[in-house]
Parts: sequence; structure tokens; C-alpha cells
Amino acid sequence: MPASNSPARDSLLDRARSAFSDRYGGAPSTVGRAPGRVELLGNHTDYNGGLVMAAAIDRGTVVVGRRREGRDASVFAANYGETDEFSIDAIDRPEAGTWARYTRGVCWAVSGWAGPLRSGFEAVVLGDVPLGAGLSSSASLQASFAWFLIAMGAVPDESPRVYSGESGDAPLMELAQTLRHSENEFVGVGSGLLDQFSSLFGRADHALALDCWRLAHERLPLGDPAPAIVVCDSKTSRRLADGMYDRRRAECERIVSAYCDRIPVEGGLLLSMISREWLEVEWKRLDPVGRKRARHVLSENDRVRRGIEALRSGDVAAFGRLMSASHASSRDDFENSSEALDRLIEAAESAPGFIGGKLSGAGWAGCTVNLVEADRADDFAEAVRARYAQDTGITAEIHICRAEAGASGWTMQ
Ligand code: GLA
Repeated sequence: MPASNSPARDSLLDRARSAFSDRYGGAPSTVGRAPGRVELLGNHTDYNGGLVMAAAIDRGTVVVGRRREGRDASVFAANYGETDEFSIDAIDRPEAGTWARYTRGVCWAVSGWAGPLRSGFEAVVLGDVPLGAGLSSSASLQASFAWFLIAMGAVPDESPRVYSGESGDAPLMELAQTLRHSENEFVGVGSGLLDQFSSLFGRADHALALDCWRLAHERLPLGDPAPAIVVCDSKTSRRLADGMYDRRRAECERIVSAYCDRIPVEGGLLLSMISREWLEVEWKRLDPVGRKRARHVLSENDRVRRGIEALRSGDVAAFGRLMSASHASSRDDFENSSEALDRLIEAAESAPGFIGGKLSGAGWAGCTVNLVEADRADDFAEAVRARYAQDTGITAEIHICRAEAGASGWTMQ
């Protein structure tokens, strides 16, 4: 069994096992586990073919289960007390916005990638990633479920490669793309690769960098001692699928369509492939909104480039300053922050141990992510909580996290 450094992880697993024996009787044979993530730099750059940096965190999802005779699947979501039953040979879409869309979507996409699943199964899913907060509970659910299927031997052909990890990261990147395909085509959310990549590729005390166009990636140490990753939940929430995300995506596509006659690219032009010089030469092609969005995405790619350099040279303070600049660019040019998120960032900036902070994920609500000197994380949390409550009347929920290993799966004896 892979070692877990986290007592919270182990207790999640124990609770999932006991929910399994209550619901199905006996013991599960197999576990899949996957973390949520924070976005450290690269806000709304992923679907624009740009650069992102993230970290997997020690909040996640576990799936425990075992094979079943026949071709039926039963999945019990312990957080909701709900069961979903379906045939693995005819996977249709449940209602939008349900957890079952994600788990069925994984079966659908993995079957399309590696061939029909070998057997039916029964499984329990349990997670502790705060929902709707921008920490990608959904990618954590997808990745843990995929690893459960792989570790159980339900996935033909590709499974030994992925499971043993012997062939390195290439099959994992294929799995990340398969899970993104599931979210885009089955679940119906047009997100980029950031979330699935982060949940699968995480490493303890490391940041993850991804070039979403070339699919090159790197794991970079966050320092020694690594700073705490402090997630401040504004307790305001907005669903990714409820319109604003798609609107921003469409605005970015409009920018690209203003340039694609001048810059033909096989496979389609993406915003990150347009240089700043080019944009500025042809600036008049864009309306004021387009100019702001373009300025954000291109300057954000630049900040990620500098962020990678900063971590390569061990300069976490410089990395922190880039995070704060990223927040300002999201707020002013991409316009996906909110009053609550801005207040949380202001509270963080004056709190002890602050290194840098920004909104995390889609934006408009949810969480900020802050790097904080590890031994001052508790003081930091207390100061932010007090100041945010004073400014807004809302009690923020604060999670002191560390960067964790990515998804894994194993069988239990
Ligand atoms: C959400 C999406 C990601 C990414 C971020 C913004 O978290 O799921 O793919 O686009 O928003 O950077």
C-alpha cells in the first residue's frame, strides 16, 4: 500500500471502508485515491494553450470497492448518501450537476480509451475536498475513480503500463487527457487540462508546471522547508458550469478569430500562440474587452515562465510576488475576481508569514490560495479570519494544506 503522510487521508480511507461494509457487506478489495488541487499561477491559461502551475493538496477523494459478477455497477457516494446503478455496457448520462455524471463519465471515457471494462463492480466514494470552492473536487473524484478501475484490473490493455508506472509519465498524460475528455464531452463542462493533470501528477512539497499546448511538464520543489499552502474559502460559491466560465472562454475564442486569417496554424490557433508583439501591431482588431482579456492571458503566461525560473533557483519570495501580480491581473483585466475574493487577498497581504496569494481556479467566488511561511500558518489563518469577518461579516473557512502526491491505486490484502 502506498504510504500516506496524512492522518486525515488514512481516516478517510477507514471511513470509506466502513461505509462499504455497511452498504455492500464484507470488505473492499481495491482502493483509488486522488487529491484536489490549487492553481498557483496561470489563471485561465490552460484552455488557451498556455502555461499553468498548480499543486496537488492533502484533501482528496477515496474510492474503495470490488469486482462484481456480471456487467452492472453500483456506486455509493457516502458524502450524499446516494447510490447510482448502471450497466457498464450502456452508459447514459444522468442529470446535469450530479456526482454520478462524473463517475459514469470516467467509465465511459476510460472504456473509449482502453476498451470495454472487464467486469462490473460495487464501490463507495468518499471525499474531503470542500465542494464548489475551486479546489477541483471533481478532478479528484475522476482521478480516484479511474485509479480504482485500473487497480481493480477492470481496464484492459493500458492498465499494466499506468498501474506500475514503469513507463513513466506518458501514459499518465494520456489518462489526464482521457479524464478531461470525459469532463468536456460527457459531463458537459468545457474546462482545460489543469485539474486532471494536477490531481494525477502531484508530488509532495512540489509545484507542478504544465505547457498545455506542448504537454510538457515539470515538478519543481517548493523549497525546504516548503511553505504551507493556505486555502481561504470565501464561503461564496458559484458553479463552474453556470455561465461565466463559458463566457470568458468565448471571449478568448473571439480574440483568436480576429487573428487567425493572419496566423494560420495547423490544428487551430490558440490565444497563447499569438505573441504580444503581434497583438500590439494589430491591436485595433480588438475591442477594449478583448484587449484586456488578451493582456491577462499573455502576461499570465509570462508570469508562469518567470515563476518556473524562480522555483528552479529556489526563490520562493519572487514566486509569491508573481502570485500576487496574477491576482491583480485576474481582477483588473480578466475580471473574474469578486468583492469577497479581493477582501480575502487584502486580509492575507497584511497577515503574518504571507509570501503571495491569488484566487484559485475559475474565480468569481470560492477560494484564494496563499503561500505562507510554514511555521506561521496558524497565525496567518487567524489574522485573515478576523480581518475578513470584520470587512465582510462572513466567516472564512481556512484550510492549511501541503503539497501532496498525485493519484494512486492499490489492492488490499
Ligand atoms: C477551472 C477549470 C480549469 C482552469 C481554471 C482557470 O478550475 O476547471 O481547467 O481553466 O478554472 O484557470
